Amino acid sequence: MSESEHTLHPLLERQVRKHLGHEALPAWSDFIEAVDRAYRHADEARRLVERSMDLMSDELNTRLEEKLATETALRRERAEQAVLIERLEEAHSQLLQSEKMASIGQLAAGVAHEINNPIGYVSSNLSTLGGYVASLLDLLAAYEELELPEGPDKERIEAARARADLAYLKGDIVALLDETRDGIIRVRNIVQDLKDFSHVDLGDWVLADIHKGLNSTLNVVNNEIKYKARVIKEYGDVPMLRCLPAQLNQVFMNLLVNAAQAIEEHGSITIRTSVAGELAIVEIADTGRGIPEHLLSRIFDPFFTTKPVGKGTGLGLSIAYGIIQKHGGRIEVASEPGKGTTFRILLPIHPPGVPPA
Ligand SMILES: Nc1ncnc2c1ncn2[C@@H]1O[C@H](COP(=O)(O)OP(=O)(O)O)[C@@H](O)[C@H]1O
Ligand SMILES: [Mg+2]
Repeated sequence: MSESEHTLHPLLERQVRKHLGHEALPAWSDFIEAVDRAYRHADEARRLVERSMDLMSDELNTRLEEKLATETALRRERAEQAVLIERLEEAHSQLLQSEKMASIGQLAAGVAHEINNPIGYVSSNLSTLGGYVASLLDLLAAYEELELPEGPDKERIEAARARADLAYLKGDIVALLDETRDGIIRVRNIVQDLKDFSHVDLGDWVLADIHKGLNSTLNVVNNEIKYKARVIKEYGDVPMLRCLPAQLNQVFMNLLVNAAQAIEEHGSITIRTSVAGELAIVEIADTGRGIPEHLLSRIFDPFFTTKPVGKGTGLGLSIAYGIIQKHGGRIEVASEPGKGTTFRILLPIHPPGVPPA
């Protein structure tokens, strides 16, 4: 206890000095010692509380950090899930679309096959019929040159001629045959479209220059485009692609014709090509009327058309869709009603599942 007599608790020492002076009575010493012990105990207890509070605060901080980390992980997981769900939805809609294509494709192939046969003999009979009609008209002309003697025969023949309205009939029969022939040609073109759509004629995988394909397709559809639009080519540096060139040309043609048809008075069609990583990109952008948002999900559907009968079959884009899918690529559309539409084809430079050259 001698030590504690010399060094009192600092607080107690100050109080002793203040209230008892330097020479505290020896009688106080026991009391002072007891108070000193009490002070030291209190200090000890306070330090203990402080230490346990520090510990608790550390523990709380750790828990808070853990909670924050869990929350971040959860948030990340949720974002990943959202991406996954979006991808699933995309895959689902693509699956639906391709399933629809496949079933319509089968149907189309069957219909095309069934129609081909009757179209064949109708068109062959039609040309024979044309020949017969021409012969008959010749014969009729020869008869008409005959001068018939006045009498009942002449009256009978003239009455029959009037009944038949021969002059009109001679002109109209030729027009009728021509129109029918046009109709048959149109049906045959539709059957061809259906066949293309159902990929009856496959063609071969070869290395081809898409710029060549674009240029030759432009030549083919020049008639449809030249009065409507200025064609702007912005060709990039694109390598040769392993593809089915005839079918890609069909895609370009369908998109170019649609672009021209979307332009009311006069506008422009921009053909842009580029490469992004493993993809070749072909963009066909027009300044036409655009596509209303609510129709965007339907334009690739077979037989969907907003064009009058005879102008559109509604097969162009579904054919394009099928062909691009077969190339392992995809086709996207962006449109602003009143401003224009851009179709964007993304083609893998090395299509999966196709043996390299
Ligand atoms: N470039 C375009 N601009 C505006 N509308 C378009 C364009 N391309 C396609 N469409 C819309 O998509 C529909 C389907 O096109 P498509 O399959 O080629 O059939 P079609 O041209 O015979 O109507 C068109 O009727 C039209 O409404
Ligand atoms: Mg079309």
